[in-house]
Amino acid sequence: MDGITRLLHEHMLRYNWVGFYMLESGATPPMLVLGKFQGAMTPHTRIPLNQGICGAAASGGKTVVVDDVSNDSRYLACSIETKSEIVVPIFVNGKVVGELDIDSHFPAAFGKEDRELVEHCAALVGRRMEKLR
Ligand code: SME
Repeated sequence: MDGITRLLHEHMLRYNWVGFYMLESGATPPMLVLGKFQGAMTPHTRIPLNQGICGAAASGGKTVVVDDVSNDSRYLACSIETKSEIVVPIFVNGKVVGELDIDSHFPAAFGKEDRELVEHCAALVGRRMEKLR
């Protein structure tokens, strides 16, 4: 996960913050906890499933792409520079265990190819975690 955040942050010029949030095991209510990340420190180190774009992606089990975060009432701000965001859930044996979250300083930074790349990275983590369990 550390390698994925470093590679994406270094090589994808519009990926200005790249990080994982993982579901805390056994927590009630369920909570996303900040894991490995690259970029500025965020105030959102713990996110309940009913908050943020992160909460929406994890609770819905679907990729969420937001082209303009200022137009999305779910958005929890990390940086005033952030304009767009993608959050991709990570599945282990069909269940969401966490997600890969990327913020960009550019509006609508995440097109079809970005979505495929980020979903591929999230799937790599899910498959690795399945093997380790
Ligand atoms: N913007 C996210 C919060 C996490 S930061 O982007 C790092 C959200 O709305 O859930």
